[in-house]
Amino acid sequence: MNRNRALAVLAAGLAISIVAHVANAAGAEASKPAASQKAAASREIDRGRYMVLTGHCNNCHTAGYIMKEGNVPEQQWLLGNPVGHRGPWGTTYASNLRLTVQNFTEEQWVRYAKALKARPTMPWWSFSTTTEQDLRAMYKFIKRLGPAGEPAKPFLPPGKEPSPPYEVRQLVQ
Ligand code: HEC
Repeated sequence: MNRNRALAVLAAGLAISIVAHVANAAGAEASKPAASQKAAASREIDRGRYMVLTGHCNNCHTAGYIMKEGNVPEQQWLLGNPVGHRGPWGTTYASNLRLTVQNFTEEQWVRYAKALKARPTMPWWSFSTTTEQDLRAMYKFIKRLGPAGEPAKPFLPPGKEPSPPYEVRQLVQ
């Protein structure tokens, strides 16, 4: 190899390593927003979990949750409840929300929640006043739990005798 050729090879090698260095730096820059997006997404899921917990959704929509004082693994949350709520309105069953969210996009879920008027014992008035931001977070959390379980039993009108198990909500005065 003559001297000029050796220099050319050296220069080419240097150029390649500079390009590689710049590309690496650009890659690191580009992954910064990706990392912060990931952190924001996981904060939103955490918020959704918190909203489900403090919105008491599990009390009704998770089987056994009250009797176990909340000691039910997350994978069993919101699968609906086989225990009916019987009262003057008939008998209602808290639905399987893991299946419900599958039917909606996030946008549809927000609109659905805002307009929802369900039968007792669903506290729809507080659910529908939940902020859009929190409804989105709840949707993401429930969606992430994934579909599982069966749909809840259908509503029974007042005259229909439910089969056990059910709780009777009766005003005694
Ligand atoms: C005190 C019990 C109770 C609590 C607490 C409760 N629900 Fe419900 N929910 C019910 C019952 C019972 C029904 C079925 C009502 C009906 O048949 O009309 C229902 C129905 C619903 C429905 C409509 C049915 C469907 O799946 O599309 C949604 C959505 C819902 N609940 C979401 C929630 C969310 C989210 C929370 C927590 C923020 C919550 N519920 C808390 C008892 C409850």
